[in-house]
Amino acid sequence: MKQVRKARSLIVLIAIGVLVFLLARCMPEAAMAPDPRGGEYAGSQTCAACHPQAAASGIAALHAHSSGKAGAVISHLAPAASFPFAAGDTVHVRVRADSLMQVREHTGRPMESFTAGLYFGSGKRAFTFAYWQGDRLFQLPLSYFTSHGAWANSPGFPADQPYFGRSIVSRCFECHASFAGTTVETAAGFKRTEHYSTGSLITGIDCERCHGPAAKHVRFHQSDPGRKRAAHISRYSELSRAQRLDACAVCHSGNNQPMVRSTFSFVPGDVLKDYQAPAFGEYGAQHADVHGKQSDLLAQSRCFQGSKLECQSCHTMHDKPKTMRAYTQVCSSCHPQPKHSTGLHAGRLTMGKDCIDCHMPLQPSKVISFQLAGKKTKSSYLLRTHKIAVYR
Ligand code: HEC
Ligand code: HEC
Ligand code: HEC
Ligand code: HEC
Ligand code: HEC
Ligand code: HEC
Ligand code: HEC
Repeated sequence: MKQVRKARSLIVLIAIGVLVFLLARCMPEAAMAPDPRGGEYAGSQTCAACHPQAAASGIAALHAHSSGKAGAVISHLAPAASFPFAAGDTVHVRVRADSLMQVREHTGRPMESFTAGLYFGSGKRAFTFAYWQGDRLFQLPLSYFTSHGAWANSPGFPADQPYFGRSIVSRCFECHASFAGTTVETAAGFKRTEHYSTGSLITGIDCERCHGPAAKHVRFHQSDPGRKRAAHISRYSELSRAQRLDACAVCHSGNNQPMVRSTFSFVPGDVLKDYQAPAFGEYGAQHADVHGKQSDLLAQSRCFQGSKLECQSCHTMHDKPKTMRAYTQVCSSCHPQPKHSTGLHAGRLTMGKDCIDCHMPLQPSKVISFQLAGKKTKSSYLLRTHKIAVYR
């Protein structure tokens, strides 16, 4: 009997010892903010301490503002607007110091009002807004177009009646954010409804979205501050060109390819094809739209096919976007003396006109256009084509 009790207390003691040991090992992890993606992620707020420059500026910082709480962008918006639809319906935009509302009025009487919860788009060209209904998200009918300094009917929305029923699906977050946890409800007729898990959203494209989970990297360098060579993090410079291209194409090759799994788990080095359903035919690639399709268009260029040209040749993520002159220098590094047949070009070149205007012209998107209040015709959404070629 005594023997058994002794053995038992020994087991209890050992168990306590093991527990203390485990807890002690877990402490540094517990001290870091928990990340909804799991323990392998450190959370981007931890990076700035050691990488202040990477955190503060450049194209990467622009990605960080690709979505967020609506309140954060209010100061960039025109304070009020009205968009008249047919049959006596009008949608009014009301921007207050800390909120943004869109109100539907019918013949002058307020009918329903929606408060924006999130924005999408860095606002370089446009912002569009979403409102919460419980744990579901819907797009608001009016978007803000920075280029025009004006509110307009959201792209693809009906122009004859206000529409508040278009869901914001997690696919938007896959390209404009870092994480969104959802549960999917399926009903008859394959109707899918996505419910967002509250507290799981990480808006904006953060460091670990592009560099992969980095908790191990952070722990390693915190405990060994003298070490100058990076550990436990993928290096873009060591990836193949195809892998580097895929790391951008995951969000820059458009949205008409059916996906077989979420790209939230995509990390540098992954192959994008593994996330996509097999393509049937080449139609989509041939007719790539300028919106969000930079990688497909670039791949159609003879420059790309005949050299090692890649996104990073022109866009380095932690520097400011290049000036037109600097882009021109990239062209000249491979084309020091382009053969132009007429004197006209030489004239335009000395006038400060650059290679980009002629060989990567601005083109209207075929999938995005929008209607400003009071205008009959649609305004186009202009982007640079990434198919570098001769345009007449
Ligand atoms: C305790 C300090 C520390 C923290 C915190 C830290 N890093 Fe680092 N990191 C380093 C050191 C040291 C290097 C190697 C020197 C360098 O490249 O700056 C490095 C290098 C890197 C590199 C370059 C790899 C290469 O060579 O191409 C990336 C990318 C990176 N870190 C990402 C991150 C991210 C993302 C976070 C936040 C989740 C983070 N780091 C947090 C210390 C840190
Ligand atoms: C997680 C998705 C995602 C990844 C990965 C990503 N991007 Fe982006 N990128 C976006 C979105 C969304 C925008 C649009 C930002 C906006 O205006 O809202 C954008 C904008 C840009 C811009 C335009 C900036 C400007 O000045 O208008 C450039 C250039 C760019 N990305 C290049 C890259 C390159 C190069 C890579 C690969 C190293 C990359 N991106 C990886 C989603 C992504
Ligand atoms: C849109 C994708 C993207 C985002 C977001 C991003 N990076 Fe990077 N980062 C890259 C790429 C690609 C490179 C390789 C060099 C290049 O193209 O500029 C890089 C390079 C680096 C490097 C090494 C070289 C250098 O410029 O110092 C560090 C360190 C780094 N990133 C840290 C961070 C941190 C910290 C954050 C978050 C604040 C972050 N990155 C956000 C894509 C990204
Ligand atoms: C496959 C990736 C992808 C998906 C999915 C996607 N976007 Fe985008 N979006 C982009 C990229 C890349 C840009 C940058 C400019 C461009 O190429 O049009 C962009 C630009 C935008 C802009 C304009 C931002 C600016 O100022 O340039 C808005 C607003 C926007 N997206 C909203 C949405 C919404 C809402 C959804 C979901 C219905 C969505 N996007 C789905 C990749 C995507
Ligand atoms: C890394 C090298 C590289 C860079 C950078 C580069 N190109 Fe090219 N470019 C090529 C190669 C290789 C070809 C194909 C030549 C051939 O097949 O004879 C080409 C072809 C072209 C052509 C002929 C296209 C056609 O369809 O006939 C034009 C125009 C052109 N480049 C313009 C540009 C401009 C403008 C830039 C800058 C925006 C640029 N290139 C950047 C390598 C490059
Ligand atoms: C030969 C140079 C060059 C290469 C390579 C290149 N870009 Fe660009 N990119 C540009 C220029 C020039 C602009 C227009 C910049 C401006 O208007 O200020 C641009 C603009 C963009 C924009 C802003 C939206 C638009 O289309 O106008 C995005 C997003 C972008 N690039 C992504 C990419 C991605 C992703 C890759 C790789 C697949 C890539 N770029 C490769 C030169 C390049
Ligand atoms: C005014 C418009 C215009 C400008 C500016 C311009 N190009 Fe061209 N480029 C053309 C046209 C048009 C052609 C087709 C041949 C012709 O008619 O001269 C061409 C042909 C080319 C070719 C294919 C011929 C060859 O050399 O193999 C290359 C490469 C090229 N341009 C590169 C450039 C570069 C680099 C710049 C900037 C330094 C530039 N172009 C500026 C209009 C222009």
